[in-house]
Amino acid sequence: MSPSDLFDVTGFGVIVTGGASGLGLAYGEALASHGARVTLIDLDQDALDQHVARLTGEGLEVRGAVADVTDHAALDRAIDGAAEAYGRLDVAFANAGIDPGIGFVGAWAGGQRPRVDEGALELYTDERWNRVIDINLNGIFATARAAARHMRARRFGRIIITTSLAATKVEPAIGAAYMTAKAGARHLMHTIALELAAYGITANAIAPGFFVTNIGGGHAHNPEVQAAIAKDIPMHRVGQPDDIKGLALFLAAPASEYITGQEIIIDGGWGLGVAD
Ligand SMILES: NC(=O)c1ccc[n+]([C@@H]2O[C@H](COP(=O)([O-])OP(=O)(O)OC[C@H]3O[C@@H](n4cnc5c(N)ncnc54)[C@H](O)[C@@H]3O)[C@@H](O)[C@H]2O)c1
Repeated sequence: MSPSDLFDVTGFGVIVTGGASGLGLAYGEALASHGARVTLIDLDQDALDQHVARLTGEGLEVRGAVADVTDHAALDRAIDGAAEAYGRLDVAFANAGIDPGIGFVGAWAGGQRPRVDEGALELYTDERWNRVIDINLNGIFATARAAARHMRARRFGRIIITTSLAATKVEPAIGAAYMTAKAGARHLMHTIALELAAYGITANAIAPGFFVTNIGGGHAHNPEVQAAIAKDIPMHRVGQPDDIKGLALFLAAPASEYITGQEIIIDGGWGLGVAD
């Protein structure tokens, strides 16, 4: 392969779940702007319409499909429809996820992190637990499964799962189901990578730290929250969706062909500890 082809994804067929906002939208933009054909899958029809119109207006090949990742039949239809539209499915970003609500402490950063009863284990409801597992873990499984059906037949594919720094490091400000789902998704990625390596399909994970997206009602847009968290991040700033585009392209492109079963943390050093 010529070095100039390392990041060539021209003509690739791509799907992104949770593609109408935040990190998923950034993945889709990164791939489409490098010549891939991208289907953004999301339950938010309005956001899909808006971003598909914007991106196609920029000359990119982007389409939208409405599906809830907890409705596996609808998700299968959306992924099958993308593969049919492109005649191939090269890359699947299993990304859709939600915030789990409050954990057992009431603040994201700083020395004062009081415990809150509302997030205590004894009061954690089945409903809250199951909803997060259903979207953040079962939805990842169903996305990878639907993608593998297309990829195995062509003996080529890239499955890229969005996990989180929280798959490794417990964040007490967010509910326990989130850490559980993300750690489960990471180990599912290992299993998929082992099973599908012989078919030319790689599976890897992107584990973001703190990124400014619309997750959890958009609390990350609050400048006070950003400033408090940035103090603990060695690079002294929170992440923006643009920061993740290079990694998304790398894991989708020929450049990463011999990398599988890996989770790459992208967090400005947040997981390392506090420096200055
Ligand atoms: N933002 C962060 O700091 C951060 C950190 C670590 C991991 N993550 C992970 O990144 C992924 C993307 O989150 P984001 O921060 O971009 O959030 P976001 O809310 O900006 O985007 C998530 C998108 O997923 C969609 N979605 C939610 N539930 C869905 C469902 N059931 N079916 C289909 N679509 C659904 C939403 O409509 C939204 O468009 C999630 O898996 C999240 O856990 C985010």
